[in-house]
Amino acid sequence: MISEINAPPLKRQRTGIEIIEIPDHVIAVSNISKGFLYKLLEQAKVMKYLVTSKGGDDRLKGKVLAALFYEPSTRTSCSFQAAMQRLGGSVICVNEKDSSAQKGETIEDTIQTLSCYCDAIVIRNPMKGSALLAASVATKPVINAGDGTGEHPTQALLDVFTIQSELGIVGSINPSKPMIISVVGDLKNGRTVHSLVKLLCLFSGVKIQYVSPESLSIPDEVKNELRDKGLEQNVVSLDEAIVNSDVLYVTRIQKERFTTLEEYEQVAGCYVIDAKLMEKAKAKMIVMHPLPRNSEIAKDVDKDPRAAYFRQMENGMYMRMALLDLIFSRPV
Ligand code: NCD
Repeated sequence: MISEINAPPLKRQRTGIEIIEIPDHVIAVSNISKGFLYKLLEQAKVMKYLVTSKGGDDRLKGKVLAALFYEPSTRTSCSFQAAMQRLGGSVICVNEKDSSAQKGETIEDTIQTLSCYCDAIVIRNPMKGSALLAASVATKPVINAGDGTGEHPTQALLDVFTIQSELGIVGSINPSKPMIISVVGDLKNGRTVHSLVKLLCLFSGVKIQYVSPESLSIPDEVKNELRDKGLEQNVVSLDEAIVNSDVLYVTRIQKERFTTLEEYEQVAGCYVIDAKLMEKAKAKMIVMHPLPRNSEIAKDVDKDPRAAYFRQMENGMYMRMALLDLIFSRPV
């Protein structure tokens, strides 16, 4: 549960209907206001209850979502599809291999086409800035499901929902004892990290620790944004992070983003979280990972109750149900 201090008051009309700003598009964390975030966190919990009690309902009957995935995806793509279907809507899936992208069609033209057939578009594309480009021509809401090394805002939403579900609060009400969230791995290319640390700026009592090889450090633009927003952040070793963290957010070294195999091999396998290392961690620390994993989390961690990554991926569906529900309820 979010603390009273953390949660902004929701404005209410006399009718009792909450007023929240629902963005036209969800391209980056900057589109997510505090009010919208808190509403999503609340609604994701409602969706979890809905799914566990009766599987879903028909509130999005007649709505069509286009899922345009030009990069591999299992969790993001399937959880969006499942989310839509559990709320009674339907999905059209487009991948690069079978689309007119093969004939040289631009993203803009593909988006204009899909805007004619569907009510919202989810896009994943290897080019940073592609989701923003899509939104500039779309006549329907666009949701960024990962634009290259840019952002992945819906992953950040489900990550925050997971922290809240697992630890009861995001951040701390005691400023001298902040919640320590360590992000580990490929911080340069990992879009999930970029979005997560930016979203954490909406909470108080959070401290970010970066653990990465020098060549994969968090980009300056992200660090500067956090600094300007007053979020405490520093660089530490994995040995330090394992001992003091409340959340250890581990990421994959993103092989597909390297220009040469040699460069990748220099850093591949640089961090491994295993059962032995977990002995040094706090009893209540949680290990998160956006998945897919390679070797950075050993299988022997899976049975540790602090391994939250499978619960995290389940939360993805509830959060995406919440997001679709709110996006489709937005006045047009
Ligand atoms: C991540 C992504 O695609 O950015 N996965 C995901 O969406 N769950 C992380 C990754 O690919 O390593």
